[in-house]
Amino acid sequence: MSARERLRLGVNIDHVATVRNARGGARPDPIRAAHLAIAAGADGITAHLREDRRHIRDADMARLGAELTKPLNFEMAATQEMLAIALRTKPHACCLVPEKREERTTEGGLDVVGGQNHLKPFIAALREAGIRVSLFIEPDRAPIEASRHLGADIVELHTGTWCHAVEAGDSARAEAEFRRLAEGARIAAEAGLEVHAGHGLDYETAERLASVLEFVEFNIGHFLMGEAMFVGLPQAIATMRQAMDRGRIAAR
Ligand code: PXP
Repeated sequence: MSARERLRLGVNIDHVATVRNARGGARPDPIRAAHLAIAAGADGITAHLREDRRHIRDADMARLGAELTKPLNFEMAATQEMLAIALRTKPHACCLVPEKREERTTEGGLDVVGGQNHLKPFIAALREAGIRVSLFIEPDRAPIEASRHLGADIVELHTGTWCHAVEAGDSARAEAEFRRLAEGARIAAEAGLEVHAGHGLDYETAERLASVLEFVEFNIGHFLMGEAMFVGLPQAIATMRQAMDRGRIAAR
């Protein structure tokens, strides 16, 4: 498979920082994990600087911005504080996500339809600085069209609902959610947006979703870090890479 046809794997390193922060010291170092992930075949690194700094911290972002040899995808809420940090860090891309203090993880897509006026200046400022802008949204026509209207370069379709249904063994719901994602990817690509996916993906779901050819990148974190505890990060990434490649080859 040529590099152009290959689905890119972005590795989210947030949960290396979660483990580090559990003890308050410097280990395990999330930036070491980022370098290791790249050496093992990751096409980019994703990190989410949350408002409450529960995992990634400001100093991590600064180091990622300075040290990475592959693209950095800076996940952030649309706030003035995060915008200032992103403009300083100059990542390859910023993925705007919704953030609620009480949530355990990013639980739904961004409200791009209702929040257009709020999002517009953030998207403009990032793009003006030469940073690609991605919006993390539900895989539906209205947020996809609103994202295009707002001038986003990329949409990342939220795969969490589908992955939950697969994990719960609810096959009817899982099939409906898979079709929603496939249709969303088609609509987004047709609108001229680059299409990414992420949240809750594991080997099986990543392989299946790779069959939807409109997707060009998956961002995966929690599952990979969990697997890394058992088989090591390079092996977990290699196995994910193979699953994604298998899914894509089977669909061609
Ligand atoms: N993409 C986005 C926008 C996310 O917010 C997250 C979770 O932080 C991910 C991808 C990765 O999800 P997971 O850690 O479940 O693989």
